[in-house]
Amino acid sequence: MRTFAHMSEIENFNDFKLKLKILSDELDGIEVLSPESLEQFRIKYIGAKNIFKDFGPMLKSISNEFKKDAGQSLNQIKDRAEGLFQSWQEKFVSDTTKTFLTFDSSAPGYSFETGSRHPISIVLNQIIDIFKRIGFTIAEDREIEDDWHNFTALNTPDDHPARDMQDTFYIKDSAQYLLRTHTSPVQARVMTREKPPIRIIAPGRVYRNETVSARSHCQFHQVEGLYVDEGVSFADMKQTLLYYAREQYGPDVKIRLRPSFFPFTEPSAEMDVYYGLADETAHRITKGTGWLEILGCGMVDPVVLENCGIDSTKYSGFAFGMGIERQVLIKYNVPDIRMLFENDVRFLKQFKGL
Ligand code: DAH
Repeated sequence: MRTFAHMSEIENFNDFKLKLKILSDELDGIEVLSPESLEQFRIKYIGAKNIFKDFGPMLKSISNEFKKDAGQSLNQIKDRAEGLFQSWQEKFVSDTTKTFLTFDSSAPGYSFETGSRHPISIVLNQIIDIFKRIGFTIAEDREIEDDWHNFTALNTPDDHPARDMQDTFYIKDSAQYLLRTHTSPVQARVMTREKPPIRIIAPGRVYRNETVSARSHCQFHQVEGLYVDEGVSFADMKQTLLYYAREQYGPDVKIRLRPSFFPFTEPSAEMDVYYGLADETAHRITKGTGWLEILGCGMVDPVVLENCGIDSTKYSGFAFGMGIERQVLIKYNVPDIRMLFENDVRFLKQFKGL
């Protein structure tokens, strides 16, 4: 039985304590002033490969008599390092929060330039607003249409000459799909999908294979209108369009309906508003007549109703379609339709606040 520790065991223990003491002094001298040095501290004293791990093998070689004492000293210094780390960490976190909360709210901020609405959107929104007030809802649909909805359902079969006036861009590899030439296919889509009463307007972009010039473009915008119910008459159409013209062009505006032809309406008409002949521009845009053509319209052809699954003996309806660009050019005196698609900010800026 041994009562006294062996000299070498004592030395071992003292050596261990000495190394801990050095480490403890080192901790006393550390001053962490930045998040970066805190991170260095963490790596050395707290992280997975911290310096205290080196003491593990040493602790093992210490005799049982001193082991408890040695282990406790090691734990104490580890706890101290942990405590220091936490207090610094809290300090840095609250420092950052403090800087955040004490920012100078009276300092001038960054300014964001507000954009302007595109003139086409301005006019489109006005038209939408006018029709919304009398119960029309908005129906939007695809710009890549199939042949059926763009032409055939609308009573314009393959060999119909009316197709020539609306040449467009077909999707490569499939002559079945094309960029819609008008918003009228939305009529066919809605009538196929819904039961009367139907009262919609369909604004959107349309395409045609046109040579681009000051007057025409290969892309433009239309608003379509459709009203189908029992007993809808030509008089209802006329009154609705008169209401539109008054809202858009002023209460004293005069309208006239001229007989026309569209494959999907019977009878069909074109509507003009009286613009006058006050100046040279008025002469030019009305071709000397004083009348400005603004839309096509008519009673939905019974064939179209049937194509879309609506009983034409029970229901009737009217439809109309108008181009937006021409109204924009006239309203804002824009000399060239191409200006509407070039997105030149010098042009667009002028519509600020409208
Ligand atoms: N879709 C015709 C076009 O683009 C315009 C039009 C005429 C639409 C008469 C209609 C309508 O709904 O009834 O030329």
